[in-house]
Amino acid sequence: MGNTPCLRVRGPFALQGEVRVPGDKSISHRAAMLLSLSQGEARITGFLSSRDCLATVNALRAMGVEIDQTGGSELAVKGVGLNGLSEPGDIIDCGNSGTLVRLVLGILAGQQFTAFLTGDQSLRSRPMGRVIRPLREMGAFIVARGGDTRLPIAVRGGSLTPISFVPEIPSAQVKSCVLLAGLLSSGITTVSETRRTRDHTERMLEYLGAGIRSSDGRIEVEGRIALVAKDIAVPGDISSAAFALCTAAASLGSRLTVRGVGVNPTRTGVLRVLQRMGARVTVERQWSANNEDFADLTVSGAELQSVDIGPEEIPDVIDEIPILALTATQCAGTTTIRGASELRVKESDRLYTIEKMLTSLGADVEVRGDDLSITGPSRLRPCVVDSCGDHRIAMTAAMAAAFVDGAVDITDTDCIETSFPGFQEFLSGLAGTGSVESFCLN
Ligand code: S3P
Repeated sequence: MGNTPCLRVRGPFALQGEVRVPGDKSISHRAAMLLSLSQGEARITGFLSSRDCLATVNALRAMGVEIDQTGGSELAVKGVGLNGLSEPGDIIDCGNSGTLVRLVLGILAGQQFTAFLTGDQSLRSRPMGRVIRPLREMGAFIVARGGDTRLPIAVRGGSLTPISFVPEIPSAQVKSCVLLAGLLSSGITTVSETRRTRDHTERMLEYLGAGIRSSDGRIEVEGRIALVAKDIAVPGDISSAAFALCTAAASLGSRLTVRGVGVNPTRTGVLRVLQRMGARVTVERQWSANNEDFADLTVSGAELQSVDIGPEEIPDVIDEIPILALTATQCAGTTTIRGASELRVKESDRLYTIEKMLTSLGADVEVRGDDLSITGPSRLRPCVVDSCGDHRIAMTAAMAAAFVDGAVDITDTDCIETSFPGFQEFLSGLAGTGSVESFCLN
């Protein structure tokens, strides 16, 4: 058996400095996909060159799109138009990426060929019925393992009929899947969201000239209108920045600026929660490009208080709950995170993995049903945390060392590559009195 990559992070430390984070994962996936479907050639700058997003690039290349990586985070994409993709010669491996499999299924549903998708062990256990059902209703032929709910999946695309779709769960991946299939169908497809989710797909479609309108949670896309290739600058990923921002907010003596972060309001729930906790967060400079919002954010350490995060707020902080749960261990009082069932179907069952991690760290944490409660402030203790192959658990555990007098050893940290290449150097550069080393377990 091979070696298991691990990290040892020694605390305590405060975070000091000015940094950037790698490109936004959601926007990078969408930029590669939508420019592939456009007419003309365009560049993506700030692209997240992580394992998940490179799996998207490989999938598109396998369908005949010419994509050149002209720099570490720069891609040149030659669009093939809405109907120019070709049948992949092999099974598409979506790796660990739920966004890739769910969004590309929407695209494949409207193509005149057959494709097969699979993924890693975690992705093969995640629910896909939520996208298969609406795509079948539009006329795609799809079969999948587990009673048509799990990868591997086979899809034979065809000509699609528009639908009016009301998602049962708030999910940007499900919404985007149906909008992409709508883009390839004849007529107007509608998605009516009862709870707003991230809107990067809608914004990018509008930027590239699609027939898309959106108001009060109702999104309409008109099919078969060509997209026109235009350059896309990807902002820094606020979900990656959140690891440092939340830790700095809770550690006295920290002062951290993260430049060029994406602050689309459907993604800034984490900043709103931090503000309710009493954090010192300031937006230094704000600007827009390609229909997305960017800002420089500064956070200084402060004494924080507990908050309540209810079910209606979960989609706004869906990827930040692990780091917010860690932050809650440093807040005075009991923080409640309610109605978080979607956490059970992420890269790991995050209600379980958060509870396990925080318990190892000596925090006061309880999961009841789909609710999480954390009482602080707690002194955390040295321990070993198994990431369970989940990048956000691995990075949260690394940040926990800020509040530990000693080392946190995190096992199975290879998963960090799915969303945050360079994380170890990033943390080393900020964690003044702390240290970060990698090691391997046999
Ligand atoms: C994503 C949407 C979210 C999020 C995921 C990325 C996207 O998933 O958790 O990391 O890019 O659309 P759901 O929309 O399924 O909750």
